[in-house]
Amino acid sequence: MERMVAMGGDGLCPHPALDVVKRPRLLDPSALSPFVDPLPVPVMLRPRMGETLRIAMRATEQRLHRDLPPTPLWTYGGSMPGPTIEAHSGQVLRVDWQNRLPSKHFLPIDHHLCGAEEDQPEVRTVVHLHGARAPAAMDGYPADWFVPGNSRLQVYPNRQDAATLWYHDHAMGINRLNMYAGMFGAVLLRDAHETSLGLPQGEQEIPLFLCDRLLTEEGQLYYPVSGRHDAPWVPEVFGNVMLVNGAVLPYLQVQPRRYRFRVINAANGRFFHLSLPDHRPFLQIGSDQGLLAAAVRQTSVMLAPGERADLVIDFTALAGQQISLINDALPIMQFRVGSAPVRDDSVVPAVLRELPRMPESAASRTRLLTLDSYSDCVAEPMLMLLNGKRWKDPVTENPVLDSTEIWSLLNLTSDTHPIHLHMVRFQILDRRPFDINVWMASKTVYYIGPAQPPPPDEQGWKDIAPAWPGMVTRIIVRFDGYVGRYVWHCHLLEHAANEIMRPFDVLPA
Ligand code: C2O
Ligand code: CU
Repeated sequence: MERMVAMGGDGLCPHPALDVVKRPRLLDPSALSPFVDPLPVPVMLRPRMGETLRIAMRATEQRLHRDLPPTPLWTYGGSMPGPTIEAHSGQVLRVDWQNRLPSKHFLPIDHHLCGAEEDQPEVRTVVHLHGARAPAAMDGYPADWFVPGNSRLQVYPNRQDAATLWYHDHAMGINRLNMYAGMFGAVLLRDAHETSLGLPQGEQEIPLFLCDRLLTEEGQLYYPVSGRHDAPWVPEVFGNVMLVNGAVLPYLQVQPRRYRFRVINAANGRFFHLSLPDHRPFLQIGSDQGLLAAAVRQTSVMLAPGERADLVIDFTALAGQQISLINDALPIMQFRVGSAPVRDDSVVPAVLRELPRMPESAASRTRLLTLDSYSDCVAEPMLMLLNGKRWKDPVTENPVLDSTEIWSLLNLTSDTHPIHLHMVRFQILDRRPFDINVWMASKTVYYIGPAQPPPPDEQGWKDIAPAWPGMVTRIIVRFDGYVGRYVWHCHLLEHAANEIMRPFDVLPA
């Protein structure tokens, strides 16, 4: 590490001799007619008690827009997103994940990255159910990958509250490529309490997977490269095309009534900032780990990669109209509201669930953990580390089962890093600006402003905490569930690959 310079900001150093890499001609998305394809809604699988679902990972082709040729993808079950699985709190879900992918990858592997070395098989997969409280052996640890021709039975006990979970690839060193190729899908975990509330359901409850991709003029996926042919890793990927459930600018026919949308940001690096035209309000009823205490009236919602928002939009007053869902300033899909009045028995109760805030006094330990980027200007353009440690360094975060800890995430970079912990749910305590220079000089935290409590939509149970630049973001976590080795990492997939990802151990009490 001596040669590495902590950057404490975004001081990029010049890359040595870049090869000239030809970038393919990219599609001009404004040339595509908007709202000509219906929104794809993934099939819903409802496994019976004791049934084992078999889901095959397969290469396939999918038309992302009426006027584009089919795009080669890698998927779960033949579509991007893969099938939605309905599961129930307290009932075991069994999935046999079968790897039937080709043995060569079609996206650029960087063999310098940890776990993706030349001697490793090119195509490796392991499925992580994001947000699941699962035993370590079932969690999809990055090193637990398997190669084409193999499968793995994963059993999820689901001893947790209702939430929007999602499954995606987590194979060491290449999961950003596997996910970019299309490998993700949703699990809607329900419980009796949530079901009793009378929220919109059935055809009025729809998952919306958001992501972006770089598409060429021929409608093929393009994954950008650094310009160094031996080290193609890039620090971030942003697409020219936004996809909703795998479609470019789709439309959804709705009735003039309430709908519940389970929004999941499955992008590698893009934050989505959603709104309706004219600041029309909608309700946010849930976040990563299920319902909020009460619905929050929103005019916009920000979702970092990996985060979820459970939204209720009431189209009753919009009968006969068309209204788009907007990301930043641009529409990403359209709702076409029917004009015939319908009866809507759904409700959004004033109180959604009991959700006490965790007192700081519950914590037996506080850990100060830095998020920083490093560069030696030669081998690695930009390494990012948690607390200055690499993936292969000995485990340093080792909470005891059932204990509560506060993790203070000191972000020394100029990026927001959405930090995710496997297995547990947590609450965000606050964010507070601190002086980075004082930290760099003396390793002391010198606050330069007041602590900001999380806004109402971040006051529920979370499994991702966006750690803002120049801030200490504090989360409070009870490590209940299972002992064993898990993972915490930034959910910007390119960051996690190099190497803002660390193991943590839950130790027996
Ligand atoms: Cu969504 Cu470690 O993952
Ligand atoms: Cu990051």
